[in-house]
Amino acid sequence: MEINREELIKRALEARQNAYCPYSHYMVGAALLGEDGKIYTGCNVENGSYGLTICAERCAMFKMVSEGCKKFLAIAVATGDDGTDGVPCMACRQVMCELCAHPDVPIYDCDPSGRVFDHTLREMAPYGFLNITENNDYHG
Ligand code: THU
Repeated sequence: MEINREELIKRALEARQNAYCPYSHYMVGAALLGEDGKIYTGCNVENGSYGLTICAERCAMFKMVSEGCKKFLAIAVATGDDGTDGVPCMACRQVMCELCAHPDVPIYDCDPSGRVFDHTLREMAPYGFLNITENNDYHG
């Protein structure tokens, strides 16, 4: 299936506008392409008890699974425009390891200025923990 990189970036930037982040004021959006051909989006949703906060990436991945799709082919993550590469946190990378279609899925880290950093999950999460036999080509 063809991956529309620009569309995923656009949708991640749009989803970022829905960020609920009254504590950190750090807005994040994510958009991923599921194996079913659908785009799933997410934003960070914070909570007054802090620890219950969910990141944009996991929000999007959990929406995908909850709607019946178990693997994604690419993900765009939109953060601030301070010039840094707003990479996914390690917890989200761990979840990505389990739900990716393959270890080389692209991760597009983008921001409202138009800057995009291209990565792959294998690059960002080598030796991710896998408790299931699926995806066991992960470690090469
Ligand atoms: N956040 C994400 O949504 N994704 C990440 O990968 C890193 C952090 C959110 C969580 C919290 O709402 C805010 O960014 C500041 O950490």
